[in-house]
Amino acid sequence: MHVGRQEWQQLQARTAPEAGLARPAAERPLASLYHRLADQMPDEATREDAARFLDAELAALDPERADLPATPDDLLEWMQSSARSVHARYAAYLEGRRAGAPRRYFANRAHALYVLRAIAPTKLVDGAWLYGLVEHWRNPRLADLVRTYVEELGEGAADKNHVVLYRRLLARHALDPLDGLDDALYHQGLVQVALGWNAARFLPEIVGFNLGYEQLPLHLLVTAYELNELGLDPYYFTLHVTVDNPDSGHARRACQAALDLLPRIDDAGAFWRRMRRGTQLACAGLGTTQVIEGFDIGQEVVRILSHKAGSGSGAHSDYCKVAGRPVNQWLADPAQVPAFLQALEDGGWIVRNAPPEQSRFWRLLQGDRAEMFGVFSAYELQVIHDWIRGEASADGAAYDEAPPARRRPTFRAQVRNGLAGSVAGAEDDELDPDLQVLEARLRGATGDDRDALLVEAMSPCTHWTPAGLAATRQFWREWSRN
Ligand SMILES: [Fe+2]
Repeated sequence: MHVGRQEWQQLQARTAPEAGLARPAAERPLASLYHRLADQMPDEATREDAARFLDAELAALDPERADLPATPDDLLEWMQSSARSVHARYAAYLEGRRAGAPRRYFANRAHALYVLRAIAPTKLVDGAWLYGLVEHWRNPRLADLVRTYVEELGEGAADKNHVVLYRRLLARHALDPLDGLDDALYHQGLVQVALGWNAARFLPEIVGFNLGYEQLPLHLLVTAYELNELGLDPYYFTLHVTVDNPDSGHARRACQAALDLLPRIDDAGAFWRRMRRGTQLACAGLGTTQVIEGFDIGQEVVRILSHKAGSGSGAHSDYCKVAGRPVNQWLADPAQVPAFLQALEDGGWIVRNAPPEQSRFWRLLQGDRAEMFGVFSAYELQVIHDWIRGEASADGAAYDEAPPARRRPTFRAQVRNGLAGSVAGAEDDELDPDLQVLEARLRGATGDDRDALLVEAMSPCTHWTPAGLAATRQFWREWSRN
């Protein structure tokens, strides 16, 4: 964690009493402010907190480490050369894989699912940094960026809205709710949503952030490739490979927007310098590769069991004993979970590095007459399954299927064979309280009031709901006509 984070925590500690923050919120300052900005329409005080958070982040950056060229003249060449470098490194990766190299990112299916869950706070506010520009949609110099935001929202189509797609991915693999995530995992998402609610104050930084964030990174390509290989839907990631392309996609448009917005009146390079710092914010918090490297399957098993310990303690009969102690006693204190797991292994309840069916513990969790059926979610079962199997889990077998005899089918092969499809969502369901309120209010509104209502419904907290999608479609229809 860098200095900006420490300053921010001090700031939070100072402001917590006035802001009425409960103790848990003060202990999780990033997640707390993130939720205040992303889950509801934030009030002025919350937006001010977000601006101060950004000030602290920016103050902590080292301008010497900015990735952007020193002058805007070299911007297009910078974008093209970074795209060339990513493509060359991806080609080398593919060549290595063809020659038999193992997956670079995901050791097994549980690892991939863990990462999808850990990056969710960022993905669930995808595009949010541009939100504050939408109300300025009539300004031709901002048009490209507003269009990028509307495209992040899928122009109001549920199956193209990036946040809806990510929500479906989480639901499909039982990765929600996102409880127990480390506070640091909210850092990047918080930067994005804080920018979105403070456009007037941070315009150069937003333009720079967009420039940095919309460039195609290598990890996106590798992630999509390895998810598909593990039989997991890579669509959210492949979609970004195509929309961020440097030829005509968001990456190119981000460069054009930056050039269009440079002041024509001499500002001695101030706007450009702030834009460069904004680009650095695209690397705030933990990067995808750090999250990938941070996976420790043993720790994740302990986290999952510790989380269950509260409800499990007292749910077992006194006959259930491990190492002579009733299970209820083992579970009474979550801190005992590592010792409990060790006792299960020592007592032969868990046989590591062997097919899970050989473990009595696993047979309690999974199977037709498993006594603890339904206690663990699909994701939690996958983690326990892969932990028990050890290195054999590299074949990517799902917890409820037999290990593949040869290579397991990729996600795309499963779709071709009718074994996997996209999960239909209810995002367009008309029975939605917000949609009914929005329609009623739109009927009575005209001119600027009507525009303001549409823009409000397109905010990060609502754009993925039926009301937000309907508002986006209307906004896009009317804007395209003009
Ligand atoms: Fe996106």
